[in-house]
Amino acid sequence: MKRLSALATLTLLTGSLFAQAADPERARNLAATCANCHGTDGRPVSGSGIDPLAGIDQRLSLQQLAHFKSGRRPGTIMPQIAKGYTDEELELIAAHFAAQKHGAETWQTATDALF
Ligand code: HEC
Repeated sequence: MKRLSALATLTLLTGSLFAQAADPERARNLAATCANCHGTDGRPVSGSGIDPLAGIDQRLSLQQLAHFKSGRRPGTIMPQIAKGYTDEELELIAAHFAAQKHGAETWQTATDALF
């Protein structure tokens, strides 16, 4: 019994320590998953044809993610990915990418796609 409660205390302690340490990096950690396809910090490899995320307005990215999640916007992969996150997490991710600097080329691609 004593051992069990010591273990529980330890678990609680390490749990909260981990949560505290992870918090400031949460958005970045969540957004790291997207780098595989959308490039480091949301700047895709030139000519890859994948949409950039860096420097895109948070509301715009969030709207697209919400549409993928709800099924309003179809996609090959994004509907599954968007469904894996809570609305709050998607908000953090979109804010993270909005704050990244966009390269001139990726910005051009993004605006071409929009207008
Ligand atoms: C396995 C590759 C892959 C990963 C990982 C991925 N994406 Fe995508 N993303 C795509 C593809 C492909 C599209 C085009 C829509 C589709 O076919 O699903 C897309 C489209 C988008 C769009 C729409 C862009 C536009 O201008 O219309 C947004 C926003 C987006 N992704 C955000 C994210 C975020 C945020 C993550 C991480 C949580 C992420 N993506 C992870 C492949 C990926």
